[in-house]
Amino acid sequence: MENKKVYIETLGCQMNKSDAERMYGMLEHIGYTQTENPKEADMLIINTCSIRQLSEDKAYSQIGVWGKWKGVSINEKGTRVYNPYPKIVFAGCVAQQGGKNILKRAPYVDLVLGTQRLYELPNLVKRIEAGERVVSVEEKPFEESEIQINRVKSINAWVPIMEGCNNFCTYCIVPYTRGRERSRKPELILAEVKKALSEGFKEITLLGQNVDSYGKDLPEGQNLSWLLRQINAIEGKFRIRFVTNYPTDITDEVIDTVIELDKVCEYFHIPMQSGDDYILKKMNRRYDYATYKKICDHIRSRVKDVTITSDFIAGFPGETEEQFENTLKAMTELELDYSNTASYSPREKTVAAKWVDLYIPEDVKTERLARLNEHNRACCLASNKKYLGREMEVLVENFEVRKNGDKVITGRTRNNKIVHIPCDRDLTGEFINVRITNARTWYLNGELI
Ligand code: SAH
Ligand code: SF4
Ligand code: F3S
Repeated sequence: MENKKVYIETLGCQMNKSDAERMYGMLEHIGYTQTENPKEADMLIINTCSIRQLSEDKAYSQIGVWGKWKGVSINEKGTRVYNPYPKIVFAGCVAQQGGKNILKRAPYVDLVLGTQRLYELPNLVKRIEAGERVVSVEEKPFEESEIQINRVKSINAWVPIMEGCNNFCTYCIVPYTRGRERSRKPELILAEVKKALSEGFKEITLLGQNVDSYGKDLPEGQNLSWLLRQINAIEGKFRIRFVTNYPTDITDEVIDTVIELDKVCEYFHIPMQSGDDYILKKMNRRYDYATYKKICDHIRSRVKDVTITSDFIAGFPGETEEQFENTLKAMTELELDYSNTASYSPREKTVAAKWVDLYIPEDVKTERLARLNEHNRACCLASNKKYLGREMEVLVENFEVRKNGDKVITGRTRNNKIVHIPCDRDLTGEFINVRITNARTWYLNGELI
């Protein structure tokens, strides 16, 4: 078939977004072009997330719709069979977990592609094009071969440096979907970074479930701060970020690197999950509130204008009102700059999901989440107000002409604050200096200086 078109729907975290870019790249090499319109696609790929029940449900309901598009016909034996096109690929974290059960549950799916089998996509596509239905979910080390990437045109390039997790927090599915921690070879990472920079990307975000674990399986001396130094040494003006850090794994060496290296930005994402010591223990997090606070205070005292963001879960099994209030207190006391929030969602296979007797009723979880969000908004506004009147460097990501005719550029500061600036010209991709004129909950306003 000539001119085949592929559409990818991505749910979940940046790791999935990065995987989608890799899929597009690989598929382009075997004759597929990207389409924004799923209805005209010859192949539909859903890149799924299983972090919460809601995201998993979304994946199944989406392929249900696609299955209907495929339609059925009657074969020579008189049985109903699904038409061969569009091919439907079920990829990502739900695929890794569900394996062959997905083919049973959704008989219109052609390929179930596990997170660690991404690089086999071109070969597997050939098999499904020949009419096979395939499941590929076995665990596997990081692929060494050079891979093709077709990045979404933007300013920031996602670059995975490690994958997997060994922590087994009692609520979390990720260790089951992304496997054990594995570091990518530095040569591959550096080659990918250089390629992205040569294509015009201005910001590199290193990705991993726990970036602090980078290098544990590599030769002595190759760790996160070493990698940051290698990347920082590449010529040109660009920014470097990294996510996610595990609180107690952040080393002084990494903090030093952030202070010393001009390209590495003053930004740490350090999920705390709860502000209560008992709940933290039940979550199998390896720190208590005092330890987290010490880490936060230490980073703030050393890194000027640092932004520290976090993640929190409301309504973990057994969480009392008092324990929940400790989370609210922690958020405020630590002056966290921003937090992702979610209410607890039981995940099959995880330890906490078995504590059914301790489940918090839905209405209580919803009410706690709303309070958590209210605190988060107050923290964000307070954090943004700290920068009123300040001069900051902004990397411009976007230019728009608004409905009322206003022309506005939008970008981020080094410490990851969004800034809107009135400007007649499209300065996308440029580094500019601005003065902050106004602070809102989710963004700052600024003017060119
Ligand atoms: N590796 C990171 C987090 C990755 S998962 C860390 O250690 O913090 C992203 C976020 O999803 C988590 O920080 C957590 O807040 C949330 N999350 C994970 N499992 C969840 C569940 N079962 N219910 C609700 N939120 C969950
Ligand atoms: Fe999940 Fe915990 Fe691993 Fe983060 S550290 S991915 S929350 S198990
Ligand atoms: Fe979701 Fe998998 Fe990311 S479960 S959050 S897509 S690692």
